[in-house]
Amino acid sequence: MIDAVFGYAPGKVILFGEHAVVYGQPAIAGTIDRGIRVAVTQKDGRADAGHLEGPLFRSHSLGLRARPDPNGEGPEGLRKALAVLVELYGERVKHLVLSAEGTIPAGAGLGSSAALSVALLRGVQRVLDEPALRDDALVERAFALERVFHGNPSGVDHTTIALGGCVAYRRSNGDGAASVERLKLPRRLRLAVAVAGSHGGTARAVAALKDRARRHQGAYQRIYEGIGALATEGRAALEEGALAAVGELMDLNQGYLNALGVSTPAIEALCATARERGALGAKLSGAGGGGAVIALVEDDPATIVRAFEAHGVPSFATEIVDGTAVEAA
Ligand code: MEV
Repeated sequence: MIDAVFGYAPGKVILFGEHAVVYGQPAIAGTIDRGIRVAVTQKDGRADAGHLEGPLFRSHSLGLRARPDPNGEGPEGLRKALAVLVELYGERVKHLVLSAEGTIPAGAGLGSSAALSVALLRGVQRVLDEPALRDDALVERAFALERVFHGNPSGVDHTTIALGGCVAYRRSNGDGAASVERLKLPRRLRLAVAVAGSHGGTARAVAALKDRARRHQGAYQRIYEGIGALATEGRAALEEGALAAVGELMDLNQGYLNALGVSTPAIEALCATARERGALGAKLSGAGGGGAVIALVEDDPATIVRAFEAHGVPSFATEIVDGTAVEAA
């Protein structure tokens, strides 16, 4: 064995637009200062099958242990991911041992599967001595892996994670490319994050919503458009540094997510606590049905992190960062 090389990718939060983004509405997401790190070692001269091994998502500060994951990042998903890597890089991958760990939990709306996808690619590129992938190539390859975990993702998670920072994203409606823009933020975006358990899997949440929407398609379509309008207004507020407005728009977005049936009593209680304690706004992030609640704060998130912890849920302070340079997981 030679020494391990590492590939890192940050987790993400969605500030505006989850679910509606699947139906062509704009969304705004950003990377955080936690993520997934993949260690890659090369088994010298041995041709036995490469493998991807755990413990996945051992979380150093959240105390969450590796477990079978509803997002498909369990053994079966990882076997398929490895097959995609063999397609992309050839038989050389079969000489690699890939091991992932991270500081975000899986299945919690923080982009673990997309971060795993991007971290795997960065690690494999490095160990094979290939030049770092350009952004568009990284996004394209990450999409191939993300499809293993998610079925038919909108692309917002892996695109944001591959680029880093705050990203405005709109999926393509036909064969054209998605619209992707990196936003310049004049103010720091500080967040308290609570993990209200694991959700039941992104693919399942998206499918369940599609099913619920069948009987009232017009009504659901208007909600998706309403969320899209909030993302557009939210983007303008973010670019102006108008954080109070960003928070108000996040609260409105949460109201729509509740109407779509992807919130839970626990998520609503956490949002209420955050607002009572002075957060500018609070909402779920990701697929919902559990998972991350994010609260935007003006200054130090510590008070709200403590208030979240009083609900008995793992919580942490973070902010939107260009997480591509962070190596420590
Ligand atoms: C998941 O992080 C975001 C969803 O909108 C799904 C997707 O965009 O593919 C729920």
